[in-house]
Amino acid sequence: MRICMRVILPFTVGAICVLGTIRAATPLQSDQMQPRLWPAPAHQAGFRQANVEALVDGLLANMTLEEKVGQMIQADIASITPAQQRQYKLGSILAGGGAAPGNDVRTTPKAWLDLTDAFFSASLETGNAAHRAIPIIFGIDAVHGNAKVIGATIFPHNVGLGAMHDAALMRRIGAATAEEVAAIGVDWTFAPTVAVVRDPRWGRSYESYSESPDLVAQYAAAMVGGLQGTPGDADFMGPGRTLASVKHFLGDGGTLGGRDQGEDQAAEAVLAHVHAAGYPAAIEAGALIVMASYNSWRGTKLHSSHYLLTDILKGRMGFDGFVVGDWNAHEQIPGCTKFDCPAAYLAGIDMLMAPDSWQALYDNTLREARANVIPAARIDDAVRRILRVKALAGIFERLPPQRRPDADKLDGLGGAAHRAIARQAVRESLVLLKNEAGRLPLSPRSRVLVVGQGADDIGMQSGGWTIDWQGDHNSNEDFPGATSIFAGIKAIVAAAGGTAVLSADGSFDARPDAAIVVYGESPYAEFEGDRETLEYSPGDKRDLKLLRRLHALGIPVISIFLSGRAMWVNPEINASDAFVAAWLPGSEGEGIADVLFRAADGSIAHDFTGRLGVSWPRTPMPAKFLDVEEQARDPLFARGYGLDYAHTASAARVAHLDEQTHVPVDRNAPETLYRAAHVTAPWSIYLADAGLGAGAEVRLTTARQDSPLRGLLVSQDTNGVTGRWNGAAPSVFRIAGRMRDYRSPADASTAIEFRYRIEQAPTAPVLIGVRCVPPYYRHIADAPGSGMATLNAWKCGTEHGALLDLTTTLQSAPLNAWRTYSYSLACLAARGADLSTVEAPFAIATSGQLALTISEVRLIRHEGPPRCGGG
Ligand code: BGC
Ligand code: BGC
Repeated sequence: MRICMRVILPFTVGAICVLGTIRAATPLQSDQMQPRLWPAPAHQAGFRQANVEALVDGLLANMTLEEKVGQMIQADIASITPAQQRQYKLGSILAGGGAAPGNDVRTTPKAWLDLTDAFFSASLETGNAAHRAIPIIFGIDAVHGNAKVIGATIFPHNVGLGAMHDAALMRRIGAATAEEVAAIGVDWTFAPTVAVVRDPRWGRSYESYSESPDLVAQYAAAMVGGLQGTPGDADFMGPGRTLASVKHFLGDGGTLGGRDQGEDQAAEAVLAHVHAAGYPAAIEAGALIVMASYNSWRGTKLHSSHYLLTDILKGRMGFDGFVVGDWNAHEQIPGCTKFDCPAAYLAGIDMLMAPDSWQALYDNTLREARANVIPAARIDDAVRRILRVKALAGIFERLPPQRRPDADKLDGLGGAAHRAIARQAVRESLVLLKNEAGRLPLSPRSRVLVVGQGADDIGMQSGGWTIDWQGDHNSNEDFPGATSIFAGIKAIVAAAGGTAVLSADGSFDARPDAAIVVYGESPYAEFEGDRETLEYSPGDKRDLKLLRRLHALGIPVISIFLSGRAMWVNPEINASDAFVAAWLPGSEGEGIADVLFRAADGSIAHDFTGRLGVSWPRTPMPAKFLDVEEQARDPLFARGYGLDYAHTASAARVAHLDEQTHVPVDRNAPETLYRAAHVTAPWSIYLADAGLGAGAEVRLTTARQDSPLRGLLVSQDTNGVTGRWNGAAPSVFRIAGRMRDYRSPADASTAIEFRYRIEQAPTAPVLIGVRCVPPYYRHIADAPGSGMATLNAWKCGTEHGALLDLTTTLQSAPLNAWRTYSYSLACLAARGADLSTVEAPFAIATSGQLALTISEVRLIRHEGPPRCGGG
């Protein structure tokens, strides 16, 4: 395999391609491993208890092999019923990012409680003459509060919590989260994430507390303690407490280029002391569950790493709890499918997360257990660990959720005490990066103009993992009890006799004393958030224009920047008088106004106490993000930086910053987007059909090769990618990943060339072309049922889209013969397309039937007349 990275050296830009660095086939040899580099065994308070081990022994002695295998599997509520749960006696049920009772993510807390009660009650019926019933543990991603549930308190995402540097508050956040999780009868949260982020282009950067291993370790312990209570104390896993799981083991924050689920090539010492920093601390604080990671380390997927899971985690670190797999992550192990993967169990995973694949996995695992492919000792060890955790956590004593003492605490979900904690966390997480001429704090008696896409959008201020997986389809009505940033400002200003006016486009009638502009990243989760550069909003500079317009009018501009990571915002900082990194603050937006405004009596109500937990980049593409010594190379603002009102009046000046991106693109070199089963980073294959709903699409990954589309099935082999359109729904195949402005004169000769082979001729028109990022894409409503719904929304400013008709070309192409086709961007521009925000240079769509294989897609220079169609 070949990977390429763009590198920026002082005078040159080039690509380094490393051959053979991703070595799926050549893992490190065991004699190259150094277990002694790793932290010595953590002191595991209360892990071994005689009564618990006796209970587990008794169960193990009397369970059938079927029952044991059942414990080792976790299914998602979207794919299992309580009756099936009772029949298969699975060890656990989860509600994944997009799953909800009745498939309605906006359902009531009561519906959640009914659902968890139904599954738990079913598990209480699994007892028999040989042994008592073994209750399930139900898991959910309460990663910033129990944010899947309508009305919950949503805390700042971890990147913001890192800036607080307040472990005591972390513990209270953990306790509050646990209560809100318990309120719906859930016993387990997939948190905390203890990733130590290295390259913030990673889409999960916001789930990492900090780039500092020490801070991550401190927080890991605080969060686990808050969620579960302290081992040995009477309230350990008592009512309102929830099992933690520490994730993702190991090296998730250190993948090359920040690619989610990618390859970590850290030296073993770095893995042990940087990436693993949170584990000993969390285990010592009583963590009983560790989740394995999607990524690989030096060519070996973590889910198949016996060395890291068994020798290090369970051996060297002495972890006696259980290891759960991640969402079908086992299918990425060579030789495995999501339905069948003895290798993961053999490596040391005790329970596989098999959301939709659980049933076949059960059958296959049972067969492999019978055939001794998975030895009995390994099965017994896995089940012992799972039962031990259930016993230590008191799950055997828990009543069905509806009858628990915490059931009547339902109004604890989103309760005032929890919201007060979240509001405090918002205040403490804000980092003041610039405060020219002491513009802040503002007087609450001023006339403030509140502007920007994020000003009154609770979904945007909450980010991913909110109500659903991506968190990008939420509106303010979905957050009862929550406060937008504007609403918070308005409340404080109105109470003091000032005025706060919301203005979407920045226009105003009466000249304001100050403009508060709230803008930043739109929500994303996991790999959907991977980026190629740290430049904020490349290609779409509307926010910057707005800042500059207000600035030019002499109005003090206060930037409130919402983001899941530190980003390159030099031009935005230059155009602002004050600049606040607000991260993803969650449901309590008034925490921002608390710090921006003076108290009514003129005193400072709350000063800025937040300090960066991650370094802030000086360029969009730092050549290297962090070295082993944890020093970011030449950051704009180092970790620990942050201004406040009390001390830093003079330092508050930030000299004019360099606005050059320093990422010149060599527009002469052909660029390969796809070649024979390999998409080149940052490109990805996306599929969408009308049945998926407006704007929704699926990214093909190694993890997800199947598609939930009705109209388009894809498969890949060494020839390339084959799309089979069946006519059931209009469907689009596209390659996207880097938004770029293609209007420069140099791009006049850019063409897209692809090599293809027709296997079935089209039965309806086929369109080919490029797609653009539409303005504020979340607000675009595709006309339901309209033929090319998702394609039409991305028309690049033209009525019919930046598309060419490929139908006759494909109809006249001989079957099963390779051909090449190319189209020039100049033809699309000539037809009126606005190519300033192209994010998919290659898109092909039809509503009829068609089968074709694509072996290669490239951006090339095409001299001569533009190619606008034809063969
Ligand atoms: C994520 C985990 C998450 C799990 C369940 C996975 O895709 O990597 O962090 O806990 O899904 O939703
Ligand atoms: C699920 C998430 C999961 C993700 C992984 C989504 O469909 O809802 O829970 O983390 O897939 O790819």
